[in-house]
Order: sequence, then C-alpha cells, then structure tokens
Amino acid sequence: MVSCSSNKLKILALLVLCLGCKQEPEQKAAEADTKPELVMYQPSEMANFMNALYAYNLQLKQQIVNGEMPASIPLDLMKLHSAEMSNGHERTAVWNSFVNVFIESQQSVIDTMSNTQLKERYNTAINNCLACHKTECTGPIPKIKKLLIQ
Ligand code: HEC
Repeated sequence: MVSCSSNKLKILALLVLCLGCKQEPEQKAAEADTKPELVMYQPSEMANFMNALYAYNLQLKQQIVNGEMPASIPLDLMKLHSAEMSNGHERTAVWNSFVNVFIESQQSVIDTMSNTQLKERYNTAINNCLACHKTECTGPIPKIKKLLIQ
C-alpha cells in the first residue's frame, strides 16, 4: 500500500511505539486481551481503483515486453469520474485537466488500428499517470515510474 504521503502511517507507527514504551512489561501482558484493536487504514474507492490501474498496467508491461498484443481493459475507466476520494483529495482543476487525457491514452494502448508503436502508446499512458501525480498525489511516483518500459 502506497498512500499519497506516508505521514498517516508514520503517525500511526509513532502512536504504536508510544503506547508500547509507556507500559510496564507485566502490565502489557495483562492488558493484551482487552486492548482495543488499532483502526486499520481504510483505502478510499479511488485508492482501490488506482491500485487496480497499477496492477493492470504492470500486467500490460509484461505482455508488451513479451511481444504480445494487449486487447482489452478489464477496468471501467469512467470510475475516475465517480469514485470517492480519501480525505484531503478532490477533483481539482489540475485533476480535471489531466483525467481525460489520461483516459484517452490508456484506451489507445489497446487500439489495434493505431499507427503509433505499442510501447510508445503504453509509455504515454504511464507518463500521464505521472503528470497528474506530480501535483495531486506524489507518494506513489517512484512506484509508477517503474511501470515505464525502458
Ligand atoms: C487525473 C489524476 C490521476 C491520474 C491520471 C492517475 N492518478 Fe493515481 N492517484 C491520483 C490521486 C488524486 C490519488 C489519491 C486517491 C485517494 O487517496 O483517494 C491517486 C492514488 C494512486 C495510488 C495510491 C493508492 C493508495 O493505495 O493510496 C497509486 C498506486 C496510483 N494512484 C497509481 C496510478 C497509476 C498507475 C496511474 C496510471 C495508470 C494513475 N495512478 C493515474 C491521481 C491520479
């Protein structure tokens, strides 16, 4: 899981550490059963969709490297227009300026009539992920960069 900034996780880790160090060992053992469970990080609908997009493109990359012709998109790209985002994220003007360009480029990867090389179309789509991420969600950028075909 890669969230936009890892601050949330750091705070969570600090909390866990602080809780852990304040207690005496015996006390800790006694409380182990009654301690409430930590609230798990709940990914937003958009975060889930982004992770599915990532997995799909990882598989596309493999196919293209193997010389295969990808033929379908198992994801509904229109979800980008409707999926709920996590707190702190919204469809900004920047988002709106990038989203349709991205959708078109992702669709063109499977366009068998295109005159542009498959690898080039694929890298264009990934560069459009990156273009939006540069301002809207910087955390996953190193991970997305690895999708590019060299
Ligand atoms: C139009 C802007 C935009 C485009 C295009 C875009 N993203 Fe994102 N991405 C976001 C935003 C905003 C979030 C944060 C969503 C949230 O937290 O609700 C995000 C989140 C993510 C995450 C983190 C999910 C998590 O677990 O928190 C990954 C991974 C990701 N995107 C990968 C990709 C990949 C791969 C592509 C291209 C195939 C892509 N994104 C295209 C804006 C974009």
